[in-house]
Amino acid sequence: MPTVTILPSGKTVEAKEGTSLLEAVLAADENILHKCGGNAQCGSCHIFVQTGRKSLSKIAATENEKLDTLVGVGSKSRLACQARITGMEDITVELLGFASGF
Ligand code: FES
Repeated sequence: MPTVTILPSGKTVEAKEGTSLLEAVLAADENILHKCGGNAQCGSCHIFVQTGRKSLSKIAATENEKLDTLVGVGSKSRLACQARITGMEDITVELLGFASGF
């Protein structure tokens, strides 16, 4: 089971295969916006994946389309609700707080 480290707090949580990064972050009691309830509609769960991208599901068209509408998107951007854990490599994510997804 990979460990997800959440920055900037540095909290960690173990996450089972199939868990979304949103579920993992919420399980660690971190604050992350998820206004559309995890449907790739709002973009408020935008995060950066710093390490462990190979342990995540590929970006699907719906996620890509939403990311294209957001400010501050980079090569490490994912929607936490759409990125599911598929591998064993540990993952580090960076929360962007309230600066993203509006
Ligand atoms: S919760 Fe809305 S896009 Fe992820």
